[in-house]
Amino acid sequence: MARIGYIVGSLAEDSVNRKLAEVLVAQAPERAELTEVDIRPLPLYDRHLDEDFPAEMTAFKEQVSACDGLLLVSPEHNQSFPAPVKNAIDILTRPPRQGVLRGKPMGIAGASPSRFGTINSQTQLRTFLPLLGVKLMGTPLMAVQVTEDTFGDAGPDEQIATRAAKYMEALTTWVEQHS
Ligand SMILES: Cc1cc2nc3c(=O)[nH]c(=O)nc-3n(C[C@H](O)[C@H](O)[C@H](O)COP(=O)(O)O)c2cc1C
Repeated sequence: MARIGYIVGSLAEDSVNRKLAEVLVAQAPERAELTEVDIRPLPLYDRHLDEDFPAEMTAFKEQVSACDGLLLVSPEHNQSFPAPVKNAIDILTRPPRQGVLRGKPMGIAGASPSRFGTINSQTQLRTFLPLLGVKLMGTPLMAVQVTEDTFGDAGPDEQIATRAAKYMEALTTWVEQHS
């Protein structure tokens, strides 16, 4: 069983990225076990906290450490990823020599109303996550343009569900091969 922790990069209650994460979880193959690693309780990182890491940060790190792989489903804010996502990544790399990201297989996905569907945010994540030792999956891309109908009452748009299934199959294989 591939244990994959998923992070929703939005703090918003009605987040479209949370909805996308739910579709990805629903479409994951049976050999993957998806669990949310919640970033909402995390305090803002400050390097003075290295001496006495807050319990929420330690619990978050332990959850990530226990996963075989990670899935980040994040919005795009001002052509980049939102501050809570950077905060979470910083926490996962601290205190020094006690980071939990090195060697971790990971996939990224995101949803936005823009026709580019978080691609700039994802491109920026791709520039530095490998430098932290993350084994980042290259393809397929999961950058979704959302409309009112994408996550409607009748269930997710069929095309999105199909893409999500292909994406989760690829991510599960990636995690199996790299963990
Ligand atoms: C501060 C801010 C900046 C944003 N910048 C972008 C952007 O650069 N590109 C984009 O596609 N959408 C942008 N948006 C719109 C978000 O894609 C939209 O609010 C989306 O619903 C956020 O995802 P969420 O619902 O999961 O929080 C921005 C939204 C906010 C609040």
